[in-house]
Amino acid sequence: MDARTEELRAAHDVLAEFYAVRLADALDRMPAERAVLGLFCDLTLAADLGTSVADVGCGTGRLAPYLAARGLSPRGVDLSPEMIRVARRDHPGFAFDVADLRSLPFEDASVAGVICWYSLMFLAPPDRPAAFSELARAVKPGGYLVTAFKAGDSQVRRGGRSTGLGVEFDVYWLSPQEMERRMADAGFATVFWGGRPAEGQEGSPQGYLLARRA
Ligand SMILES: C[S@@+](CC[C@H](N)C(=O)[O-])C[C@H]1O[C@@H](n2cnc3c(N)ncnc32)[C@H](O)[C@@H]1O
Repeated sequence: MDARTEELRAAHDVLAEFYAVRLADALDRMPAERAVLGLFCDLTLAADLGTSVADVGCGTGRLAPYLAARGLSPRGVDLSPEMIRVARRDHPGFAFDVADLRSLPFEDASVAGVICWYSLMFLAPPDRPAAFSELARAVKPGGYLVTAFKAGDSQVRRGGRSTGLGVEFDVYWLSPQEMERRMADAGFATVFWGGRPAEGQEGSPQGYLLARRA
């Protein structure tokens, strides 16, 4: 594992319990995020490709109950073993495994959709084409990808400091144009894009992209 990935993994191991508390009911307070995820669920079910979806960079697994309540069968993967430990503890009805999104443990065209909720923003620019192609590899033609991300200028920043937990790592606030273009290059055609201004403690506007695998 390279030094950047090791730093990212170690930081998220430290953040796991912090996120478990801080984000436990966050979706309940975020109607825009529920709406985007709900649209993803509706379109994925309508595609009639099965209910199996992958929550890539699933963190504490907090999205799994929502996705299941909407009719999907999510499994989660995350770089951080501690995130996976917490996800298994807090959401025991679901499968969670340690994996890097740049090398997914899924067969080709094996899931009806992928959810990348604030998990693509750590990819350095040279890693993005192969990583997005790896997502496309796993999704059945006609299936869907949904991603939430911090929207910005695509410059690298150091994240994690504001938690006060002594962790930091590289993070990129991608421009919506770059996200859409790179997803298109990987084989995903945009179905919906949107965004909203920063709220509360958020340091950036939030971007959302929902795209269909060709
Ligand atoms: C901001 S958290 C979001 C977690 C979850 N999606 C949520 O919305 O609560 C980002 C997550 O992405 C994971 N992550 C970052 N890079 C990854 C990679 N290359 N492969 C798999 N997971 C990754 C981190 O370990 C972390 O759990």
